[in-house]
Amino acid sequence: MSSFRMNRREFIGAIGAAAFAAVANTRAAESPSLAPSGMQKRAIPSSGEQLPVIGMGTSGTFDVGATEAERAPLVEVLRLLFDGGGSLIDTAPSYGRAETVIGDLLQQGDWRQRAFLATKISAGGGAGARTQWNGSLARLRSDKVDLLQVHNLVDWRENLAFLRELKQAGQVRYVGVTHYLDHAHDELARIVQAERIDFVQVNYSAATRSAEKWLLPLCKEHGVAVLVNRAFLDGRLFDTVHGREVPAWAAEIDCRSWAQLFLKFVLANPAVTAVIPATSKARHMLDNLGAGVVADAKYQDRIAALVS
Ligand SMILES: NC(=O)c1ccc[n+]([C@@H]2O[C@H](COP(=O)([O-])OP(=O)(O)OC[C@H]3O[C@@H](n4cnc5c(N)ncnc54)[C@H](OP(=O)(O)O)[C@@H]3O)[C@@H](O)[C@H]2O)c1
Repeated sequence: MSSFRMNRREFIGAIGAAAFAAVANTRAAESPSLAPSGMQKRAIPSSGEQLPVIGMGTSGTFDVGATEAERAPLVEVLRLLFDGGGSLIDTAPSYGRAETVIGDLLQQGDWRQRAFLATKISAGGGAGARTQWNGSLARLRSDKVDLLQVHNLVDWRENLAFLRELKQAGQVRYVGVTHYLDHAHDELARIVQAERIDFVQVNYSAATRSAEKWLLPLCKEHGVAVLVNRAFLDGRLFDTVHGREVPAWAAEIDCRSWAQLFLKFVLANPAVTAVIPATSKARHMLDNLGAGVVADAKYQDRIAALVS
């Protein structure tokens, strides 16, 4: 088992007090509410259900084997996520062993009940999609997921029809579509305008701002929740600032690290419902959770200027 452990009191000491102080100084997002840790939540427009703003991706980071040495650090990552008021976990059948690892680790205590579990369909529509879905359920050790997304818009018309069928049957609570590259934003926007979906998952970061031009406002207008992937540009944003201290003004929005600045950049956009940074390290999860109080949008340009 990893030596990185904090009890709840220590954890709240680390992020909670500062978060509560910061909330008084920052303009709140629409309909915000606070998890016990101080992490903000935002409403899923199609239901009103509140989702904690910091979630977690699993691409690469949860693609590990079954040994104690490989899994113990990820148990700590999940423990911190839940203790910090988080719940959203995004995975996919194409992320190697990630679904299996998530399915296994969520067997601990009440973690499966506390998780808002999102996965994806990337098989061609029809029988392939059903086979892939059944595989995901088996790996996740579950009979339903909270959110099922068409991965990278693969065969999206047929796959979206399948997702809706599953929603109708009660196996899925929300449906959505995803992509990770700017060139797909126009197609995502067309889907938001023409179809009834609950979620869009899209790339957005301080260095890649295309989504904010019209896709994000469109999602807000149409009542579609937004999950943001690649908020760190797969980690490459940290190379951009390597060796530099965070600016002194970061303290005004309660940021003590580059990761917190990059996540607060994303969450300062009012169309964003939650961000899903991936990490395999407990200290990075703790760092990311520290960004869970939303900052004023006026800081976005200042943060982006640091990596432009
Ligand atoms: N088409 C799609 O649907 C699609 C595409 C891309 C991504 N996604 C989803 O979005 C998630 C996030 O995207 P991503 O994984 O591509 O990239 P990302 O979240 O932008 O970056 C992840 C990288 O950042 C590092 N990191 C995390 N927290 C850190 C911290 N506090 N300080 C320093 N480094 C930190 C991680 O390394 P450590 O492990 O060392 O912390 C990892 O290498 C994915 O995992 C996936 O669930 C979906």
